[in-house]
Amino acid sequence: MKLSEKFMWGGATADFQYEGGFQEGNRGLSTHDFETAGAYQSPRYITYRMPDGSVKKARSSFSDPEDIPVEGKPCICEDAYYPSHKAVDFYHRYKEDIALMAEMGFNTYRFSLCWSRIYPTGDELEPNEEGLRFYEAVLDELEKYQIEPMITLHHDEIPAYLSEKYDGWSSRHVIDCYLRYCRTVFERFGKRCRYWLTFNEINQARGYASTGTHRADNQTHYQAVHHMFLASAKAVKLGHQMMPGSKFGAMYAASAIYAASCRPEDVFYQLQCRRDVYFCMDVMVRGYYPSYTEAVFLRKQVTLKKEPGDAEILKNGTLDFISFSYYRSTITNQSREYNFIGGDPNPYLETTPWGWPIDPLGLRYVLNELYDRYQVPLFIVENGMGAVDEPDASGYVEDDYRIAYLEAHFRAMMDAILMDGVDCFGYTMWAPIDLVSLSTGEMKKRYGFVYVDMDDQGKGSLERRKKKSFSWMRRVIETNGECL
Ligand code: BG6
Repeated sequence: MKLSEKFMWGGATADFQYEGGFQEGNRGLSTHDFETAGAYQSPRYITYRMPDGSVKKARSSFSDPEDIPVEGKPCICEDAYYPSHKAVDFYHRYKEDIALMAEMGFNTYRFSLCWSRIYPTGDELEPNEEGLRFYEAVLDELEKYQIEPMITLHHDEIPAYLSEKYDGWSSRHVIDCYLRYCRTVFERFGKRCRYWLTFNEINQARGYASTGTHRADNQTHYQAVHHMFLASAKAVKLGHQMMPGSKFGAMYAASAIYAASCRPEDVFYQLQCRRDVYFCMDVMVRGYYPSYTEAVFLRKQVTLKKEPGDAEILKNGTLDFISFSYYRSTITNQSREYNFIGGDPNPYLETTPWGWPIDPLGLRYVLNELYDRYQVPLFIVENGMGAVDEPDASGYVEDDYRIAYLEAHFRAMMDAILMDGVDCFGYTMWAPIDLVSLSTGEMKKRYGFVYVDMDDQGKGSLERRKKKSFSWMRRVIETNGECL
């Protein structure tokens, strides 16, 4: 059993977890630059300077809206560690890293552009030439090895200025800023990139770091998401006009979701949670708000501000394909609010050290479910195992657990494609070279085929070393999965 020669194999990264260089090349500050490192079960925080000069912290990701110090301004404190500032320094090491990707046989690489590297405040009319040149150099390097880029335009972050001045995506003005940025990169990179993702995990985007809003209540959240829908649809339309043949997707978090039991109430609750996950896809792929929206908004006390013409915009900017991340499955339980990285333990599944259930069959389930629901091509843009890697005396990591995880997921993906007939045209593993974890800010939670010598405080030589999984992955790609 093997995949077609055209199948796209590669890896995926996000700038604020990988790139670093936060004060180089005239880059502006981005929302993640104010986010401290955390650990498993100890949250990451945004640091805020209060009007009286004191510093307050608020949970950055799944924050309790009540906690957010609305009078404060995000600030950088000298005694805190902010992983995005250096990340693992792709900014200076991109040549070495791309050479490693080429050695593994990647024919694609998905990465995100840092919006504030290209438009430092997000609000100016002219782009930052140095920022554009950096990504041009990355594209040069990819071309050298015939690695096809896939560019994420917005990966869970926004220029800090747009957050401060306009409250991020809660303001309609940000749509124009995003479109200006899109036009610039389409003009500059359009001849060199066919695949574009307008937003990363838009169905998870909530709160300061990912949307730049200073509140995370339902009203602010859905209004921000409505603006992101419009921005995405306009970017798709513009991209198609400016770059004939270009293909647009957006990226969604798509864990498999199981009911807590076969009790009809539990199963129906699972259906409602599943709609929460698919809500964004429903709008962006079909081009209109689904019929269940009204009931959801009524329950959540949301009244969207729409303008005449919004429906038309959504209709004219639907996506060409769906890309998604799949790491795990989740069990829903009516007594707790649904959260895609929470959920009850599944007695049938092992977990990673971070408590994420390992469920390869769930990937086949999600691929089938998505394809049944939308009938558009699919791309798995994130999948992988966060694990603790212990190098031996010579620095070598024998990551058999990672190989086992990936092997099982590849088999499930191949079954979905070759047996179930799902049209899935590519896979990019998260993340081929170790980088900073999004949820915890740790380095210890490693995903890569390549070990990066850096610890949770950002100390280390940053040297890159191949793990055992490196040559294993090369063989998988070389044989298009036949060796599995
Ligand atoms: C996805 C994000 O949610 O999951 C990535 O798009 C993230 O940015 C990845 O890194 C894995 O999550 P984590 O928390 O283990 O880094």
